Amino acid sequence: MKIVVGITGGIAAYKVPELVRLLKKAGHEVRCAATEHALEFVTRVTLETVSGAPLYSDLFASGRTEHISLKDWGEMLVVAPATANIIGKVASGIADDALSTLLLAFSGKPVVMAPAMNCEMWAHPSVQRNVDTLKSWGIHMVGPEDGELACGVSGTGRMAEPEAIAQCVRLLSQPTEPLAGQRWLVTAGPTYERIDSVRFIGNYSSGKMGFALAQALADEGADVELVSGPTSLNLVHPHVRVTRVESAREMYDVATKVFPTCRGAILSAAVADYRPSECADHKLKKNGSEGMHLELVQNPDILATLGQAKNASQTLVGFALETDNEEANAQHKLEKKNLDFIVLNSLRDKGAGFGVDTNKVTIIARDGRHKESPLMSKQEVARLIINTVTT
Ligand code: PMT
Repeated sequence: MKIVVGITGGIAAYKVPELVRLLKKAGHEVRCAATEHALEFVTRVTLETVSGAPLYSDLFASGRTEHISLKDWGEMLVVAPATANIIGKVASGIADDALSTLLLAFSGKPVVMAPAMNCEMWAHPSVQRNVDTLKSWGIHMVGPEDGELACGVSGTGRMAEPEAIAQCVRLLSQPTEPLAGQRWLVTAGPTYERIDSVRFIGNYSSGKMGFALAQALADEGADVELVSGPTSLNLVHPHVRVTRVESAREMYDVATKVFPTCRGAILSAAVADYRPSECADHKLKKNGSEGMHLELVQNPDILATLGQAKNASQTLVGFALETDNEEANAQHKLEKKNLDFIVLNSLRDKGAGFGVDTNKVTIIARDGRHKESPLMSKQEVARLIINTVTT
């Protein structure tokens, strides 16, 4: 793995060459980025020698955009020691030197920080608030540890030992696919119920929510059987098999066949409850000025069928698209269809539901727990649902 080690101005910087040595010994490629103050504690020559690469410390050196090329190069960023100053800068979005600029640019990849400072600084509410903010963004904190500090007092503030930081890097760099070996069924999109050879009864579902769920499951290592009604979406992923269907009955046939081999199912399709009792094999002609009567018959309920069939080790998740009495209706569906979770989205929430790229949901568990999301992209909603129903 390609690791950028960022060093800030604390006495514990003298331990960084040992950290770099451990990371290189573990097979990683390392480059260092240091603040000006860090170089008061550890020299450029030392860092360049142990890493075997030029040090990045000057935002304006030769006018290059090194913070961008380094963030493109690095797969993980480890800041050790992380002073109260760098923690505060990142929490506040301040980028005024080489390392803080790199930190803000380094998005979507793991960042580890090993805080080190005086114990009273560490306990200060502003530092604690900043640390909480960084944690909530997914930044991993190692330490600080209790012990004697450079200023002569004892307390919490010592930087974690290089071995502990290297161990955290080891855990984060191992590929983790928590759902590897699990098969999940996802239904997506609308169903079309034919009236004649050119007309159908359908709905506005685009399939976006279901495809995002399939992608999120596959990204966690699951093998996904995605059964989709008519949609223009496509998903090419080695872990996803897409079966295209048109009607509720076709979706029912595939879903009920696949479900017994699955660890769980998430049914996000907007399935037509009714279909015309007959489908003409030609285009129906206008019947003078008379109206037209369509007789509808009920479609099988896929979710309820899976709810009856499911065993104790399977997880079944339904969706509820409601317009009023949302929670009560969703709760009723959860019980009636024997579900483990139901994901409620309401057409009364702007930006939620059919067609749009965003959704806002409440995930209701069988035991009554509720988790509400803000309005987020369907990809983010999908990840929230997967995290909730697979843990
Ligand atoms: O596809 P998008 O444009 O991204 O829109 C996403 C969505 C709004 C379609 C999705 O988020 C959603 O709410 N899907 C469920 C829509 C729906 O049909 O809800 P329902 O309350 O009518 O159905 C309840 C549950 O039973 C659903 O899980 C549904 O898939 C299932 N069902 C319903 C009828 C039926 N015959 N068989 C079923 O399996």
